[in-house]
Amino acid sequence: MVKKVKKAEIERAKEILEVYKSGGDWLPYTDIKEINKCLKENDDGKISMIMIEIDGKIVGALKLHRPQAHIGKGGKVAVLPEYRGKGIGKLLYKSAIKIFGMEGRRKVVDSVVGENPPVFFMFEKLGFELEGKMRKQTPAGKTLYQFAYHIDEKGIPKFEEDVVFEIPLTEYMKDLKEKNGKEI
Ligand SMILES: CC(C)(COP(=O)(O)OP(=O)(O)OC[C@H]1O[C@@H](n2cnc3c(N)ncnc32)[C@H](O)[C@@H]1OP(=O)(O)O)[C@@H](O)C(=O)NCCC(=O)NCCS
Repeated sequence: MVKKVKKAEIERAKEILEVYKSGGDWLPYTDIKEINKCLKENDDGKISMIMIEIDGKIVGALKLHRPQAHIGKGGKVAVLPEYRGKGIGKLLYKSAIKIFGMEGRRKVVDSVVGENPPVFFMFEKLGFELEGKMRKQTPAGKTLYQFAYHIDEKGIPKFEEDVVFEIPLTEYMKDLKEKNGKEI
């Protein structure tokens, strides 16, 4: 089963929206405008949404954020229910770490709202560490858990043999890498 890691494509925005909708209550606010904004950035070389494709079908997607020059952040993530538990979520995050590494960033963070065991297990397996717990952080009183993966300590995770990484090295990445190389 070949798994292709691709930048999300504008002509497939509706298909990506369906993947996010399958996240149910964990992803209540995703809409097509939000997805299109990321896809525009993808076209400009700042990879802001990636997807996993199996046999031509999009089975998972992850949004990428950049809070600081040396830090990348995982955003909304979803895998189609029938493809969960097969390593797709881990592959999305390994790919995000690789992309942020290509930009010379040294840390990848993500936060989880509320108790979401699949995400917690996934971060643990990937080598993310729990760096913070903020009680009653959301308007609904939920706890926010802050996770981090230190690229400079752990390196870029290896991909399985059935993975094809199709994310191109862009000018944006090259510029950032040069900038980060100077600042770190
Ligand atoms: C969270 C999510 C993206 C994980 O994707 P996935 O493809 O199922 O995850 P993986 O198969 O890569 O699993 C990663 C690890 O977590 C563990 N895991 C995943 N789901 C688990 C569960 N329900 N119980 C126990 N362990 C679990 C697995 O052990 C796996 O590690 P391993 O393969 O080394 O054994 C998926 O469950 C999902 O789409 N959930 C709904 C949307 C959501 O909650 N998004 C997060 C909020 S933004």
